[in-house]
Amino acid sequence: MSGSRKIYLGTNTKMYKNIRQTVDFVTRLETLTKDIPRDRLELFVIPSYTTLAAARKSVPETDILIGAQNMCWEDQGQFTGEISPLMLEEVGVNLVMIGHSERRHVFRENDAEENRKILAALKHGFVPLLCVGETGEEKEYGIAEEVIRTQLKVGFRGVPAEQAGKVMVAYEPVWAIGVNGKPASEDYAEKIHALIHRTLAEQFGREQGEKIPVLYGGSVNDGNAEKLIVMPHIDGLFIGRSAWDADHFNSIIRKVMPLFFQKSGTEGD
Ligand code: 13P
Repeated sequence: MSGSRKIYLGTNTKMYKNIRQTVDFVTRLETLTKDIPRDRLELFVIPSYTTLAAARKSVPETDILIGAQNMCWEDQGQFTGEISPLMLEEVGVNLVMIGHSERRHVFRENDAEENRKILAALKHGFVPLLCVGETGEEKEYGIAEEVIRTQLKVGFRGVPAEQAGKVMVAYEPVWAIGVNGKPASEDYAEKIHALIHRTLAEQFGREQGEKIPVLYGGSVNDGNAEKLIVMPHIDGLFIGRSAWDADHFNSIIRKVMPLFFQKSGTEGD
């Protein structure tokens, strides 16, 4: 989405933070970022299910979108342990993350399941955030591009082009995520982001495909956020550990925003 007027910055708090910690976090983040015009910044937090209702009530959705970490594709039924779109609607969730690498690799979800969830999320008016990314082994075999194209083509199968503007994509190489992760270099991330943008343009047509923001995630930190955000095809950052302290997240936001707008040529508009 080159030339974007908006930067996308968000965090997934994984299976950390209880209700009180989540409310404290989003409240502090909202206070710290209140002065930033939201037509320039889409800020989102994806905490655990049990915290969603309290998180949603504690900050306005015009300032921070709240997302769920997963969702069942069915509205109701014999799906013990799952959470339905209707239940998420009830607590006012805005966004649903689909296909996070930990869902794909620890819980063995596949592309066809992610596709059903994407379609259900759109039907219920959520913004689906589809996560894609290759494992270290797939990278070694030289099939990262094939894997990512497959994840996108199957994940978004049946999504009409008119709805493309409602979805988001996060590129999170599996080998880059978490405590044992090694961040992708900015050049490697840029190469894959360009591929993702090309694939989305193929799938939805150039105009619609270009509306989809593609965020980079995987060991983003103070030291690499600026290098990543200046890359032409990176529309935002999806951060884990380095964003879990609101003050630290805010300092990353402040660092990357001016660079992002210099890149997209909309500085001082
Ligand atoms: P880290 O930034 O902790 O590597 O996590 C990234 C992530 O999984 C975001 O969904």
